[in-house]
Amino acid sequence: MSAADAAGALFATLSAGEPAGVWSAPGRVNLIGEHTDYNDGFVLPFAIEARTHAAVGARADGRVRVASTFADEAVEVGLAELDALFPARRDEIPEWARYPLGVAWTLRPSASGDVPGVDIALASDVPVGAGLSSSAAIEGAVAVALDELWGLGLDRRALAAAGRRAENEAVGAPTGIMDQTASMLGQADAAIFLDCRTLQTQIIPLGFAEAQLEVLVIDTGVKHAHATGGYAERRASCELGARLLGVPSLRDVTAADLPRAAQVLDEVTFRRVRHIVTENQRVLETVRTLRESGPLAIGALLLASHASMRDDFEISVPELDTAVDAALSAGAIGSRMTGGGFGGAAIALVPSDRVAAAADAVTTAFAASGFAAPHVFTVTPSAGARRD
Ligand code: GLA
Repeated sequence: MSAADAAGALFATLSAGEPAGVWSAPGRVNLIGEHTDYNDGFVLPFAIEARTHAAVGARADGRVRVASTFADEAVEVGLAELDALFPARRDEIPEWARYPLGVAWTLRPSASGDVPGVDIALASDVPVGAGLSSSAAIEGAVAVALDELWGLGLDRRALAAAGRRAENEAVGAPTGIMDQTASMLGQADAAIFLDCRTLQTQIIPLGFAEAQLEVLVIDTGVKHAHATGGYAERRASCELGARLLGVPSLRDVTAADLPRAAQVLDEVTFRRVRHIVTENQRVLETVRTLRESGPLAIGALLLASHASMRDDFEISVPELDTAVDAALSAGAIGSRMTGGGFGGAAIALVPSDRVAAAADAVTTAFAASGFAAPHVFTVTPSAGARRD
């Protein structure tokens, strides 16, 4: 059953009526620009074809009920209770339900008057915990649905911001704005070049199809969570670096400042800062290279990005390094881990006629290292959130 049908079928278990509609939003792959978003920097993600679908219908009693094919039980709260729950008492809500309820919480004040309660049934084919932003896909699908049902008339940037706020405050994950922007603004065969300081975006054609390139995703199966652990630690290091260097954010540090930074900062903080500074440059360089020379020329930039995350930012894991090395040895033109790190997925840009060989090489290398078999599949740059 497709995820859209599954959302519809789940809705039927919630309500005797038909949903008002089914809305969906995609996961994303980040082509380059990792951990730069919350440093006011540059990112270049694209939306993928895997989507989360939300079948949504209004209800008369002012309550919000969310159900998901991932969860055994629906969660129900009154619209009027949302302000008391988030953020202070969010722990009372099962984690998966904080995403859709958090979006309802952040969007409700945008309505001019009273809004109806809603039933929301979620089904997704975005793999969870793979670094493909299953969370932004939920936020995006619910945001476009509520925008329409509640007559909010918000633009895509505002809906992306609502999703991010839900993730930061209702879920408690201190993430940036990249994933929600990609999920909202994605277009076929194109990436979104986002300046996270000005929030200006440009659609950058990727030309993968024309160049006969495929994007292989290697989901290592190593699970990560952004609300805890390494992600928040890296963010804190970046904030410390900016403070010690006397700038509002690491966006304001250039390569020319690095020698001074090496003197001011401890060794670890310096390497964290160097990753952000060089990664911002690589994003700009990737955009320029795509425009001037096309996608076959960006391989070295992807590799340099991976090396920087492995060595300077230290967010890779052995499985991700193995995936990158094996894909390259089998003919990928570039490869890197994608997303927040500490697990999740790597991507490899592979000539179409080498896809099977690259997938085999990765699977063989994982087995040889004693790692659990990875999940390897291709993705296509695709359209953003919409009503289906
Ligand atoms: C996660 C976050 C994003 C971004 C990436 C790392 O996906 O949700 O905001 O910080 O990690 O680039």
